[in-house]
This record gives sequence, C-alpha cells and structure tokens, in this order.
Amino acid sequence: MPSTIAPDRLSRVNQLCRAITDEVGRAFIGAPAITEALLVALIARGHVLIEGYPGVAKTTLVKAFSSTLGCNFKRVQFTPDLLPSDITGTYILDMRTSQFVLREGPVFTNVLLGDEINRAPAKTQSALLEAMQEHQVTIEGETRPLTEPFIVLATQNPIEQEGTYPLPEAQVDRFLIKLRMGYPAAADEKRMLATYDKPPPAVRPVMGPHDVLEMQALAQEVFVAEELLDYVLGLVQFTRAHAKIYLGASPRAALALVHASKAVALIKGRDYVLPDDVRGLAPLVLAHRILLTPEAELEGGSGAAVVAEGVDKVGYKMPRK
Ligand SMILES: Nc1ncnc2c1ncn2[C@@H]1O[C@H](COP(=O)(O)OP(=O)(O)OP(=O)(O)O)[C@@H](O)[C@H]1O
Ligand SMILES: [Mg+2]
Repeated sequence: MPSTIAPDRLSRVNQLCRAITDEVGRAFIGAPAITEALLVALIARGHVLIEGYPGVAKTTLVKAFSSTLGCNFKRVQFTPDLLPSDITGTYILDMRTSQFVLREGPVFTNVLLGDEINRAPAKTQSALLEAMQEHQVTIEGETRPLTEPFIVLATQNPIEQEGTYPLPEAQVDRFLIKLRMGYPAAADEKRMLATYDKPPPAVRPVMGPHDVLEMQALAQEVFVAEELLDYVLGLVQFTRAHAKIYLGASPRAALALVHASKAVALIKGRDYVLPDDVRGLAPLVLAHRILLTPEAELEGGSGAAVVAEGVDKVGYKMPRK
C-alpha cells in the first residue's frame, strides 16, 4: 500500500477532527455522523445541502460547526425577493472620492449558511451556485475570487410549500453531500431539553482557516486503490442500469464519491481509502443525484433506496496479492 502522508500529520488531522466533533456536540446534540458529513464536505472542498423540518437544529449545527473551525461565518436567509447582488455584492458610489467601490456581499466569507435556499427564484440560486462551483463571483462584469476555504451549507425544508422554487437537478448535483436531518433519538432529545433550559454553551474554535486548507491539500494525497475505483464505477453503473431510474449517477457523482471517500479516510487518520469509506458515503453522495422514473416515484421509491440496493448488491473485488 503506497503510503505518502507522515504518521504525525495523519494523527494530527484525526485529533483535530475529533476535537471538532466533540466541540460541535456541546451545542448540537445528535449523531456525530452528521458533523462528520460536514467535515467530509469541507475537506473534499464540497458543499452540503441539509434537508430537515423546521426546528431540528440545522442553524444551530451550522453555526457551531463554523465556530469550531475558527472561520468567518455569514448567513443569508433566502426569500422570494432576494436578488443575486444580495449574495455577491454591489458597487456603490463613495461620495467622498466620487468612485464606485464594491460593497462585498455575504458570499465573501469562509462558511456561508444559505437558509431555505429553495425560497429564492432560480436567478438568485444560480448566483450562489456559480460561487460554489468556481469559487469566484462575477459582479457587473468583474470577476473576483472568493476567500479560501469556502463552503456553502444550504438548508431546505422538505415539505412542499407554497412559494418555493425547487432546485433543478443540475443544481442539486453541485452539492457534494445531501444530508437529511430527522428528529433526534429520544435520549438525545431529552438531553437537549435538560441542557437547553439555560443558555447553550459557547463553542470554541479548535483550529483556523489555514488548518482547513492544509487538510484539503492532504486529502488529495490519500491513496485510492484501482479496485476501489472499479467499485465506485460499479455503484454508479448500478444506478444507471436500474429499472426504476430515469437518470443515473453522473461521472461528476462518481468523482465526488472518490473525493469524499478520501476525505473520510483522512478524518479517520488513514492515508488510504477502504471499501467501507465508499459504502458509508454512497448514500450521502449519490442518492440526491439520481432521478426516478415517474412510475417508481408514484410507487414511493427513492434514490436512497436504489443506492442502498447498490451498496448491497455490488461486490468489491479484493486486490490480487
Ligand atoms: N438536537 C439539538 N441539539 C441542540 N439544540 C437543539 C436540538 N434540536 C433543537 N434544538 C434547539 O431548538 C431550537 C431550534 O433550532 P434551530 O433554529 O437550529 O433549528 P432550525 O432547524 O434551523 O429551524 P428552522 O428550519 O426553523 O430554521 C434551538 O433553540 C436549538 O437549540
Ligand atoms: Mg434555521
């Protein structure tokens, strides 16, 4: 197994990630796997779409997460009248100098919470999506790079409501991970009730933006065996050939799964990917990128179920010794 990352660097990343999960856990009471999914996206330079009912602590989670990173955090509440320039920024006239100066929009930050992203019309959504994809924005013809690291954590409410503009499939595909936040386990909810009868504890930063950049760079050095690339291909091909599927996982989705698997390996302190890394992430990375046939939709099928079936059926070939 070609090992490329020094053991002390691996254990430092592993320790930092544990510290983040513990620290986030002081404010957000719930499954550590949720925080880990955010870390995966951060390290793989991806973005997360969080779907969940109101009041399941989406905002609490995202705020706690960005505080632990020691990164800048901004929040945009998406509304039907939100304009693209409300996200990217506008030029305003400086009366003293008679010059136009850029008033930077909230996108110039490290962690951007886009709350209820499906409440804004397509044009505004796509301003954000350009930023997500390119790590830059174009304001009145002038292109500006964003600050690094840059991660968007967007939320949307799953209930079909009046006045929502569902994200088109191609846009959903731009999120590395789609996370569904359900209700907490009974024991967690009880602990939350007991904890939150007084003001919640402040979350402390455990690292800084430069640590994030270093982790992102390290993740690229994580080793993926050829058999695992075949395994990823097997999974995406399974979704493409499935009878219930109208549109299977794209090559971009396959690549996303590889990137995410490298990130999770690093979080766990390894410099190589295991089949379980891929298995664990496939539902989070692939399910939202596939489209069911209308019949399968009517029968109550779901992308998640098809991916779960793939994880069950597609075998992983052990490397030849
Ligand atoms: N699992 C949890 N851990 C900690 N706090 C929680 C949890 N669930 C709910 N809360 C508390 O419930 C309240 C609502 O949380 P929050 O505002 O983060 O929810 P939300 O999902 O962002 O809601 P909305 O969709 O309305 O924006 C907060 O006071 C939060 O502390
Ligand atoms: Mg909220």
